[in-house]
Amino acid sequence: MTTDKINISHSVPQHIAIIMDGNGRWAKARGLDRTEGHKQGAETVKSIVKASGKAGVKYLTLFAFSTENWKRPQYEVDAIMNLLVYMLERETPELNKNNVKLMTIGDISQLEDKAKASLKKSIDTTSNNSGLTLIIALNYGSRAELLRAINNWANDVTAGKVLQKSIDEKTFEKYLYTHNIPDPDLLIRTSGEQRISNFLLWQLAYSEFYFASCTWPDFSDEEFSKALSTFAARERRFGLTGEQIEKNNDKPISSC
Ligand code: FPP
Repeated sequence: MTTDKINISHSVPQHIAIIMDGNGRWAKARGLDRTEGHKQGAETVKSIVKASGKAGVKYLTLFAFSTENWKRPQYEVDAIMNLLVYMLERETPELNKNNVKLMTIGDISQLEDKAKASLKKSIDTTSNNSGLTLIIALNYGSRAELLRAINNWANDVTAGKVLQKSIDEKTFEKYLYTHNIPDPDLLIRTSGEQRISNFLLWQLAYSEFYFASCTWPDFSDEEFSKALSTFAARERRFGLTGEQIEKNNDKPISSC
């Protein structure tokens, strides 16, 4: 069987997911409280949202609060939630002006009322925008997302809403928070840590990973550009051979 060459055009990632790590260490290195790191991190969010829109990225997913983050000291949890509300209120007009559409993934029903109300307001205000889709992962954990999907599918089978007795990838994806959102092309994690930390385990199956050594508050537009150019130089294969891919970069192999 001959296989046609597959054109995998990917100079700009359509979807970037980011684990914004290192806020606490940034603050500690300056003798500041951890919450100051989150404040500075929120300013980085602002500049990376802008830079993503300018670069032509269509989806940007930010891991802002995990299912595990509830175990942090209460004052820090409160500070992150208050910061979220403050940023939503301050930045929604700017998001709107820049044609950015806001979405969330994760179980936001567990958030405080004021955070839920601010999110709803910003999501409604930006719902008709057609530029960058900014997806904030809040009370998100990938294992919880996968279990929720399986349980919801099983409930639908029991209720007779779906007829099949086994599930394929396409159907399964409909039960994820990320349904209708393409998988991330690029995952960025800052602060030198090289792990996924329960983030988008299903969706990152074929993503390229980029680990930046600087902390999130120090992740500048230049660092972001570096991540984009590294991505553009990667050869994505999706399980195929280099020869089957039209845009083969013919990368030299290096010995270990
Ligand atoms: C990880 O750094 C960061 C977080 C858990 C919180 C991220 C929140 C923000 C950037 C602010 C609000 C977000 C939005 C979308 C406006 P860490 O605290 O784990 O850092 P460490 O590993 O150095 O302790």
